Amino acid sequence: MTGHPVAYSRSVITELMVPSYANFGGKVHGGTLMSLMDKLAYVCASKHAGNYCVTVSVDNVQFLRPVEVGEVVSLMGSVNYVGKKSLVVGIKVIAENLQDGVSKHTNTCYFTMVAKDVDGDTAEVPQLILESEDDVRRFCSALQRRRIREEGVTFMDAYKARFTDHFAVTELLASERCILAIENTG
Ligand SMILES: CC(C)(COP(=O)(O)OP(=O)(O)OC[C@H]1O[C@@H](n2cnc3c(N)ncnc32)[C@H](O)[C@@H]1OP(=O)(O)O)[C@@H](O)C(=O)NCCC(=O)NCCS
Repeated sequence: MTGHPVAYSRSVITELMVPSYANFGGKVHGGTLMSLMDKLAYVCASKHAGNYCVTVSVDNVQFLRPVEVGEVVSLMGSVNYVGKKSLVVGIKVIAENLQDGVSKHTNTCYFTMVAKDVDGDTAEVPQLILESEDDVRRFCSALQRRRIREEGVTFMDAYKARFTDHFAVTELLASERCILAIENTG
C-alpha cells in the first residue's frame, strides 16, 4: 500500500452563517460548527484512506470566541497523522465578518477517524508522506496526544477500580464546591 502526501487530502469548507444556525443567545450554535467539522473530517479522512471512515473521537473542542450570524466560516482540514487503521484530521476554524473584513480564529480541534472496508471491517490506511516542517510537527504532536490519551485511559481504569476508597474520596473533595450528602458506608 503506497502513501499519500498531506496535500492530497487537504480540504476546505466555507459556509455563510444564516439565522437558522443561531442559538437562543443569537450566536451560532456550537453543534452547527461541530457538524461542519465532522463533515470536513470525513472528507479529508476518506480521501486519504480511499475508504469510508467513521468518527471515533474528537479532541480539543473549544469555542474560543462566539461566531455571529452573517459571518463566513472557513474550516481548513488536513490529515495530521495516520496509525494502522486510524487517522487524525486537524481542523482550524476561521470566521470572517464580510463588512469589515476582520477574521478571527475560533478553534482548532482534532478528529480521530477509523477507516472501514466495503464489508464494514476496519481497514488499513495508506502511509502519510510528510513534505514540510509543519507536516512533521503536526504528525509528532498527534503522536504525543495519542500517547497522552492512552496513558489517560490506563490511569482512569486504575482510578475507577480503586474508587471504593472512601477516605481518599473525602480527602479529594474536601476543598471542592460540593456537599457530600451520602451516608458513609466505609
Ligand atoms: C471506530 C471503531 C470501529 C473502532 O473499533 P475497535 O474495535 O476499537 O477497532 P480497533 O481496535 O481495530 O482499532 C482501530 C483503530 O481505532 C483506534 N481507536 C479505537 N478506539 C479509539 C478511541 N476511543 N479513540 C481514539 N482512537 C481509537 C485504535 O487506536 C486503532 O488505531 P490504529 O489502527 O491507528 O492503531 C468502533 O469503535 C466503532 O465502530 N465506533 C462507532 C463509530 C461511529 O459510528 N461513529 C459515528 C458517530 S455516531
